[in-house]
Parts: sequence; C-alpha cells; structure tokens
Amino acid sequence: MIYELSNPLTNTLITHLRDKNTQAQQFRHTIAELTKQLTYEALKDFPLIQKNIATWHGNKKFETIKEEDIVVVTVLRAGLPMLDSVMELLPNCVAGFLAMKRDENTHKSVLYYDRLPKCKNKTILLVDPMVATGGSMCDAIELIKSKGVSKIISLNIIGSPEGLKKLSSKHPDVDIYIAQIDEKLDINKYIIPGLGDAGDRSYNTQ
Ligand code: URA
Repeated sequence: MIYELSNPLTNTLITHLRDKNTQAQQFRHTIAELTKQLTYEALKDFPLIQKNIATWHGNKKFETIKEEDIVVVTVLRAGLPMLDSVMELLPNCVAGFLAMKRDENTHKSVLYYDRLPKCKNKTILLVDPMVATGGSMCDAIELIKSKGVSKIISLNIIGSPEGLKKLSSKHPDVDIYIAQIDEKLDINKYIIPGLGDAGDRSYNTQ
C-alpha cells in the first residue's frame, strides 16, 4: 500500500524543501517535521499496551505504544534527520543504521555498513527521504527481511513513480508512507522536480 500525504501543510513544507535557497538547518528541520507527520499516519492503527504509571495520585495503568518493539532504520546519511525525528517522538525505540553508496555510473546502491539491532518480531520504520530508482530501499528491505522481521513500514519524503512502482511490486507487504510523489526520474536518476541531493542539502556538501 502506498499512502501519499496530501494536505496544505505537507505541501507547504515540501515547497520549502524544493527552494534551493533553503539552508541546511531549515532543510533538516523541515524533513524532521514532515517525518513526524508520516510517523503519525503510519502508526495510526498501531496496537497499544497497558503500562503501569506512577501518577501524582498513585499507580495507574494507561495505554501506550510499546516503543521498544519499534526499530527505526535509516539509510545514511540523508535519512539521519528522519531518524532523529522518529526518536524524538518515540525516545525508547531502537535505532539501526545502513550505509549505502550510489554508484554514479551504474546508479545502483552498494551496501558498505550494516549496524542493525535485533529485529526479530519488531516493527521496522525504514526512513529514507528520497525514493529515486527504489534500488537502495529494495536492498535495505531485503537485508532487514533476512533478519526475521515481520513488519516493515517505509517512511519517505519524495518519490518517483518508477521507484515506488519497483518498491511496491518487489515488496507488496511493505506499507509506504510518502509525503509527495513527483513526476519522473531524469537520465541521472534524480527525481524531477525533486529537491536535489537530500544528503548534500542537509549537510552543506556537494
Ligand atoms: N537521491 C537524492 O537525494 N535526490 C534524488 O533526486 C535522487 C536520489
């Protein structure tokens, strides 16, 4: 299932991201705000448990998400502001890191670092701002699935129709929450209109 956020606030924030005059700090902040919107949608039907809480007038049980059962996995480095944002909402969730490099000739992703925690029976929130060809997301999902995960939810900011088609046809069991779907990929596999390179925009590199 692909769920595209579409509301005036989301679209306004995306427009800020597209503006090349938006500086890195505001760019990361805006990515983080959009991630909160995506997380809210993605966890709408998440099961709640009862937790014993010491309140101001005694111990009482209240409902909560079991945060420890959620693993947020980021693909370095563009996904880092998204990871921070999820961990602000769910401070007790667990983080995992994957590093993939895009080969600029083949446009394929190459995994060079894997620091995933125990994933068995956990829900994975896989965060990556851009779904361009979908190649790195598919590779990340295959790796995560090999660790015995039952549920993966993908949180993304902008995607191409081509990349999303690939992702959803290879992994129909993965729910995709995305802020906006763009027109197409260019010949260099960048998203049009997109926002440029999300990692470079976030960290003042090029
Ligand atoms: N990665 C990005 O950061 N931007 C694109 O347009 C494509 C891949």
